[in-house]
Amino acid sequence: MKALVLSGGAGSRLRPITHTSAKQLIPVANKPILFHGLESIRDAGIREVGIVVGHTAPEVQDAVGDGTAFGLSVTYIPQEAPLGLAHAVLISREFLGDEPFVMYLGDNVLLEGVARFVERFERHRPTAQIFLARVPEPERFGVAVLEGDRVVRLVEKPAEHISDLALVGVYLFDAAVHEAVRAIRPSWRDELEITDAIQHLIDAGLTVRAEMVEGWWKDTGRPEDLLEANRMMLSTLASRVDGEVDGESRLVGRVVVERGAKVIRSSIRGPAIVGPDSVVEGSMIGPHTSIYHGCRVQGSEIRDSIVMEDCVIEGVHGLSGTILGRAVHVRRSTTPPVGHHLVVGDQSHIELL
Ligand code: DAU
Repeated sequence: MKALVLSGGAGSRLRPITHTSAKQLIPVANKPILFHGLESIRDAGIREVGIVVGHTAPEVQDAVGDGTAFGLSVTYIPQEAPLGLAHAVLISREFLGDEPFVMYLGDNVLLEGVARFVERFERHRPTAQIFLARVPEPERFGVAVLEGDRVVRLVEKPAEHISDLALVGVYLFDAAVHEAVRAIRPSWRDELEITDAIQHLIDAGLTVRAEMVEGWWKDTGRPEDLLEANRMMLSTLASRVDGEVDGESRLVGRVVVERGAKVIRSSIRGPAIVGPDSVVEGSMIGPHTSIYHGCRVQGSEIRDSIVMEDCVIEGVHGLSGTILGRAVHVRRSTTPPVGHHLVVGDQSHIELL
């Protein structure tokens, strides 16, 4: 069994963060989303992984390397443009050979990992195995229509309500999928859709199994999804203090303070994590907050937020539901003219009190 991880795409709904970095590398609980996926593939006993990469290839390669750090052997498969999930399979033919494989969408996070998914496929050996979850906004996903436990129809981003069972971003296939991805035509959004390829398998009378996802799952396509994934993954952390916490600070609940981090005269309410070499001073952090590495937070109050590396936050209260990209400075204005002074990149979102 091999794995194909999709880490290309545009990430347009996560701008401005994705203007400068791959959406799959945004940290959730201080770990890039993609790493959560790679670790769960390794934990399912798979070693050979192909990662499909687009214009952010150098950044992804820099972060993942040859996969040794994850106990994996990684092959990069460049995709000229985000031409669809089935297109990603099409260009990976040589890497995949005739082996069955798990296809994992690099922006999906699953609390339970993928081991059970792989085990179900191995046990039943269908042509394809999909996983479904009931969602409130099915129009944002591919959806499945079932008759009993048989999949009869799959539709990508349905304009009209036909089902609230969304396809989760983990699929298992045997070699028959290669013929299917060659047979289909681009959709209305000009992509080769994996849902159409699976529909092709159904129409050819091949077995497509569907199962419900039991645990929590998230497609991190939008900022609010990232924050929810952050909350969820933070809640799985075990408390650990490898950095320094002074006697005037208080840690409550699940809190991780990484090596080289300093917590001074502060209160941290878990679940929360302070990354390596970050300094938190005179501040209140959490709950549901992750501060990545090299940050400085002083005299501030932050909860339910993701702060990426090298940020500086000074004298700012009430930060909540916030995502800060790399090396962002937010500080209380002390010099005239009094007011909000903003230097903000394209397509940023700001809500002021
Ligand atoms: O998350 C589940 C949903 O993922 C499914 O319900 C849908 O059926 C499926 O089409 C997919 O929908 P999205 O519109 O959310 O896919 P997105 O464009 O976000 O791409 C998913 C991942 O695959 C993301 O990490 C980017 C990567 N990708 C995407 C495309 C289109 C590639 O590597 N290459 C591509 O050509």
